[in-house]
Amino acid sequence: MKVTVGVSGGIAAYKAAELVRALQQHALDVHVVMTEAAKQFITPLTFASLTGHKVISSLWASPAADSDANLASAIEHIEEAQTIDALVVAPATAGVLAKFAHGIADDFLTTLYLATTAPVIVAPSMNVNMWQHAATQANLEVLANRSVRIVPPGTGYLACGMTGAGRLADTGAIVEAVLAVLHHRNDLSGETVLITAGGTREALDPVRFLGNRSSGKMGYALAEAAERRGARVILVSAPTALRAPANCELVPVTTTAEMRDAVLSRIDQATIVIKAAAVADYRPVTLSDRKLKRTGPRTIELEPTEDILSEVVARRRVGQLIIGFAAETENAVAHGRDKLLRKGADAIVLNDVSREGIGFDSDRNAVTFLTRHTALDLPEMSKCDLADRILEEILGLRRPSLVVAETDSVIEE
Ligand code: PMT
Repeated sequence: MKVTVGVSGGIAAYKAAELVRALQQHALDVHVVMTEAAKQFITPLTFASLTGHKVISSLWASPAADSDANLASAIEHIEEAQTIDALVVAPATAGVLAKFAHGIADDFLTTLYLATTAPVIVAPSMNVNMWQHAATQANLEVLANRSVRIVPPGTGYLACGMTGAGRLADTGAIVEAVLAVLHHRNDLSGETVLITAGGTREALDPVRFLGNRSSGKMGYALAEAAERRGARVILVSAPTALRAPANCELVPVTTTAEMRDAVLSRIDQATIVIKAAAVADYRPVTLSDRKLKRTGPRTIELEPTEDILSEVVARRRVGQLIIGFAAETENAVAHGRDKLLRKGADAIVLNDVSREGIGFDSDRNAVTFLTRHTALDLPEMSKCDLADRILEEILGLRRPSLVVAETDSVIEE
């Protein structure tokens, strides 16, 4: 597998040589890209000697080259972006993180970031005040929400003479992050994953609807992660403010009935179904064709909607995995397990939505992955990271496992 190490201009640039060697020990074909500033700290010759490959730092062939040569070089370099399995930037300076976050492509490294579809890992390193600055933290949040893996810096004595967070993470931690990303590559290849996301809406009149607080972020994060891991993804989405994930088949719907039709008409294609959508349980019995006037107290009669998850389970194909979500505010595990058994899903991803800062419409989440016999707490993390953890647990359902029976003895399932 081919990994490109991006080196940007910080004092920790010299540690990138150790990273290159450590990655090579895992039989990876390592290439290096440097910013101009990085060359002030360590020479391209060091990396070229270690890797046996030319080190790229400019989009252009050379300042003296003619325009045809420069254009050919730029195209060749960008084509190179399509052949890598991961890009790891270490050290990633505050400037490089800002350029990545804002899509500024003014040198080879930042252009490569925009041009590649491979997973990206960044290991920031900088002065403690720069690390803590609101701008840097905001840029990191943007990148985390774009599925960029962040290997946080360590704390200690910094080259600038200050003490605090900002020291490049240990080489081992960076290598581990790279290997984890590569391990995920294509482990869902051959799977078709149907994911529902967002909150369905049931109209009351032409301007009002019954809805819920789902932003779709959890479902979209799952769709992006599944696609990145090689799955074909069908994303049936209620209205959201999110950009459609690249390379997913997006099926926009509004109501529960539309979501049901969209899901059931595609269900036979799916090997894995993940129902992350928050589906309206009731709809108004009558839909007013005019805006309802304010005329004092009003009673709205509601009828139950279709239970899509139960219908999916009823039509289950051999080998198909069906995963539900549950949003609970009290006795979460008991209610979640009850839902799992009642609906007949293989697992339920349980959200305790009474907790502040996670669940609905936040960028972070913490869940319990519930099966008939197990309850695994996945602690708070970004929805992008959580999506990968959930997919790992789903894939784990395919493997024969040892489970603890009610008697506490271990049985083979
Ligand atoms: O979208 P975000 O802002 O990122 O928030 C994520 C989330 C909290 C919405 C999501 O992670 C979540 O918990 N989704 C499920 C919410 C929900 O509707 O739970 P429920 O307990 O009401 O439903 C249980 C399961 O049955 C769900 O898989 C749901 O999709 C399904 N269902 C529910 C009702 C219905 N009529 N048909 C269904 O298929």
